[in-house]
Amino acid sequence: MNNLPIGIFDSGIGGLTVASAIVKVLPHEQLIYFGDTAHLPYGDKSPEAIKYYSLRIAKFLADKKCKAIVIACNTASSLAYSDLVNFMGHELPIFNVIDPVVDAVVQQHSYTRVGVIATKATIKSGVFKHKIQARNALIQVQSLATPLLAPMIEEGFFNNKISRTIIDSYLSSSKLKNIECLILACTHYPLIQKEIEAYYKYQVNIINTADIVASYIKNQLISMDLVNRSEEMGKKNQHEFYVSDYTNSFEQSATMFFKEKIHLKHQAIWD
Ligand code: DGL
Repeated sequence: MNNLPIGIFDSGIGGLTVASAIVKVLPHEQLIYFGDTAHLPYGDKSPEAIKYYSLRIAKFLADKKCKAIVIACNTASSLAYSDLVNFMGHELPIFNVIDPVVDAVVQQHSYTRVGVIATKATIKSGVFKHKIQARNALIQVQSLATPLLAPMIEEGFFNNKISRTIIDSYLSSSKLKNIECLILACTHYPLIQKEIEAYYKYQVNIINTADIVASYIKNQLISMDLVNRSEEMGKKNQHEFYVSDYTNSFEQSATMFFKEKIHLKHQAIWD
């Protein structure tokens, strides 16, 4: 059981930020990654569609004999996590990317005004506001949907004039006024973290969700005695990457994150 892979999925390249953070803290794990590029962006889809895609992908990863599944997407975590746990949680552990971040914000800091940026679907679900305020009703949660960011990043637009203009226009919204920290509640956003920090002139704490999630998963796998004990695993080229539609930018990003040539496999898992 311990040497089985960890399954991880997102709508596209965003989950690679979580995948590479996991590889850093758990270097002997093998990952099977699924990017649902045929249905990107999830943030504009209905809850029903997001649940349906997530269930199909989780089933694919379970059939690949993964020992755990990481929903490396805030949108799918917001809308499909409880369905996935109901359908498959008795067979294998399922992790979302929201609970570890809420824990970190509520426990480790004394924030009173927390900003959240995410896709339309995540913001509409109200999940961050609900979960944070259930733990500490005094924390004011200021949320803003930033729907252009994930497609922009997916297309490779970051660290340039276009991305800076779009980021500035979102972050100057009055909805984010006077925040003390900002949760990047979309797994694509760590790719523009530097630009966001620069916008705030380093005065607002930007929460690096990928690192928080990776260290949470490490602790959970240790406590479940699921960590791989073989040092042979997780070496170069052992991770597998599947996409539902082939895109160049996915291959480039995966290669950038994993610093090795990635061979994408096309996997259509829809009827
Ligand atoms: N990376 C995904 C998230 O964390 C969503 C991007 C999208 O497909 O809209 O929400």
